[in-house]
Amino acid sequence: MNLASRTAPSAAGSSALPTLATLRERGVPIVMLTAYDYPTARIAQAAGVDVVLVGDSAANVVLGYGSTREISIDELLVLTRAARRGVDAVPLVGDLPFGSYEPSDDVAVATARRFVEEGGCDAVKLEGAGEMIPRVRAIVAAGIPVVGHVGLLPQSVVTPDGYRAQGRDVEQALRIVEDSIALDAAGCAALVVEAVPAAVAALITARVSIPVIGIGAGSQVDGQVLVFHDLLGLGEGHAAKFVQRYAEGRTVLVDGARRWAEDVRAGRYPAASHTYAIAPETLAAISERLGRV
Ligand code: KIV
Repeated sequence: MNLASRTAPSAAGSSALPTLATLRERGVPIVMLTAYDYPTARIAQAAGVDVVLVGDSAANVVLGYGSTREISIDELLVLTRAARRGVDAVPLVGDLPFGSYEPSDDVAVATARRFVEEGGCDAVKLEGAGEMIPRVRAIVAAGIPVVGHVGLLPQSVVTPDGYRAQGRDVEQALRIVEDSIALDAAGCAALVVEAVPAAVAALITARVSIPVIGIGAGSQVDGQVLVFHDLLGLGEGHAAKFVQRYAEGRTVLVDGARRWAEDVRAGRYPAASHTYAIAPETLAAISERLGRV
C-alpha cells in the first residue's frame, strides 16, 4: 500500500507522481509540509513538496487553541477542504482529530471516510499504536491509506511540559521502535516520527518497510515534515528545537500591514491609480438628480 494507490477520488495527477514508497526505495528524501487552507496549500505545492498534510496543528497555528485536542472534526474538515482546493498535483493527507477515531473501529472508519469523501483526502493520519493498531487495520481494510505517528504525540499531551523528546531511555525507545513495527505490519502507508533521538529514528527506519518521515527525528529517516507556520516564521513565541525558519513571514506581513496603515493615515492611500473614474457628464447628471431630491 502506498499513498498513490489510494482508491479515493480527488487529486488529479497525484497518482502519476512517484509514490512515497518509491522515493524511499530510491533514497530520495521525501518532503512533507503542512497546509491548512487554499493559499498555504498553493504555496506548499508551488514549492514542490511531495505531500501535503492538513495537520491538527491547525488547532494551534490557525485557530489559536492551546492544544490539538481542542479542534473538532467539522473545524478540521473546513480547513481540509480548503487545502484540497489548492492541491491538485500531490497527495493530501488529513489528520484525524483527537477523539474522532479512538472509541472503536467503526468510529475510526466513519471519520476516515469523512476525511476522504468530504475533505478530499488521499490518506489519513492518526496518532499512536497499541490500541490504535486495530483502528489502523480497519481503516486500511476500508481502502483508505493510513499514515501512523509515533514518538511525541501532541494529542496525548495534557500539560505544556509534555512537549518533550520521547524515546531517550531504553524502555521508551524500545516501545517506540516496536510501535513503529506494529504500525507497519498493520498496513500503514507511511510513518511520522516526532521528537525522538536521531539514532532511535534510524533504528526505526532500518526496521520498517514503509517511508519514515521525521519531525525532530534527525536525518537518518526517509523524509522530513514541518509545520508551515514554523517553517516560514508566521508564528509567535517559542519554537521547538528542531524548527529552522526559512522566512520571516510574520515580520514581512506585519511590516506590510503597518506601512498600509501609515499610508491611509497620511492620505497617501488610495492614490489616483487605485480609484475608479466616472465621466464628467455622468457625474453632472447624478448631481443634478440629487439636487432635485
Ligand atoms: O499536526 C501536525 O502538524 C503534525 C505534524 C507535526 C507531523 O502532525
